[in-house]
Amino acid sequence: MVKGLDHIGIAVPSIAEARLFYERLGLAVEAIEEVPQEGVRVAIIPVGGVKIELLEPLSEDSTIGRYLAKRGPGLHHVCLASDGVAADSASLRAAGVPLLRDEPTPGAEGALVQFVHPKGAGGVLYELSERPVGARD
Ligand code: CO
Repeated sequence: MVKGLDHIGIAVPSIAEARLFYERLGLAVEAIEEVPQEGVRVAIIPVGGVKIELLEPLSEDSTIGRYLAKRGPGLHHVCLASDGVAADSASLRAAGVPLLRDEPTPGAEGALVQFVHPKGAGGVLYELSERPVGARD
């Protein structure tokens, strides 16, 4: 079940350059993490109770690399916090909503994630994220 908004993912060619905008607004990068299986480097910027995730490609042929080549930098996905990604995936799949992965996979910060195809969600790429037990909100 979805419990809230977790983060907003923004595709950027360079975290080093993109972070300056947020820092000028008084926000700070809390962590930078590489997720090699996704081909991406992620900078996490807490804002209020949610986060902005800057997504920098590790290579041109990664998901974010191809996104940047096609669409340029900008809003990439919206992530909803779930307390059960497997159950949410099953319920969406049963309703015919297309998902990008057969099973939830590990994402940044040890979360379990699934993506909903924009075709099934009004044109928005949604990520569903389940935090590991014991992780802070
Ligand atoms: Co994300």
